[in-house]
Amino acid sequence: MLTRSQPKSSRTRPKAVRHFLDLDQISAAQLRRIVDMAHAMKKAGKRTPKELRPKGISDAVLAMIFEKPSTRTRVSFDLAMRQLGGQTIPLNHADLQTGRGEPVSDTAKVLSRYVDCIMLRANKHETLLEYADHATVPVVNGLTDVSHPCQVIADIMTFEESKGPIKGRTVAWVGDGNNVATSWMHAAVRFGFELRLACPPQLNPEARVLDWARAEGGEILLTDEAEEAVKAADCVVTDTWVSMGQSDATRRKQLLSPYAVDDALMKRAAKGAVFMHCLPAYRGLEVSASVIDGPQSVVFDEAENRLHAQKAILAWCLGV
Ligand code: CP
Ligand code: NVA
Repeated sequence: MLTRSQPKSSRTRPKAVRHFLDLDQISAAQLRRIVDMAHAMKKAGKRTPKELRPKGISDAVLAMIFEKPSTRTRVSFDLAMRQLGGQTIPLNHADLQTGRGEPVSDTAKVLSRYVDCIMLRANKHETLLEYADHATVPVVNGLTDVSHPCQVIADIMTFEESKGPIKGRTVAWVGDGNNVATSWMHAAVRFGFELRLACPPQLNPEARVLDWARAEGGEILLTDEAEEAVKAADCVVTDTWVSMGQSDATRRKQLLSPYAVDDALMKRAAKGAVFMHCLPAYRGLEVSASVIDGPQSVVFDEAENRLHAQKAILAWCLGV
């Protein structure tokens, strides 16, 4: 009798697809598992032990779609998938038919027939949500205009390596209330730490995210005084003043100049506080060279930890 292999769409799938879209969409317990797995991945090194490897990983492929530039996310996801035992297909948006108007919904359905996971760096968060709505494989947020959850998983991991468990500690965000700040707000609620944000009022984080965090019982302070946010904090974080896709650079630099992280500001933080920045950084703007290249800076640990964190995120998405 002639047997035909089943089309991929009708193979048995896990009941719920584990998308990694935002930290507010995943339970505190699952996020804790992901960070613990990230620590374990780092300890294990390049050869991922069997218990941390998803079933069937040697046949699994990750598609990585980039609508905007990336160094860390691109390289760390690529290596992470390979070190788990799978393969990757990097795709630039301009090379895909979506660049010529093919609907995202069709693209998501087509890619789901080929690959096992889709990582997307999107200009618009809506595009990510559309992929997730139509894909039948996990979709991972590799940064949008709204959030950057993979970064903050690596940041939590980095904090814990230097300072121990993050629960109950204090993190100060200084500068633009941007996409990375949003993921920090989500994380403050899910991991139970105090987050103090110092932003110029014109560049405050989105009110709906603040409202969500406070309604969830998050300990979040919003101020326009960098000194107030940083006082006795265990960690000071900042980011570029001009994110990808933003055009009003001159206005932003003017508004944000009082929020530069320098030695004087770091002195107000707790003794032994760490400095974090997701990179790319602009020395002399959001941070002085003496801070980012100084002894309190853990920015290259953060960058390295993207790799270990991506392995944990992919393993979780693929069923570990
Ligand atoms: N931090 C971060 O996401 O860096 P890339 O833009 O280089 O991926
Ligand atoms: N906020 C920055 C982060 C870069 C990793 C941006 O969106 O460009």
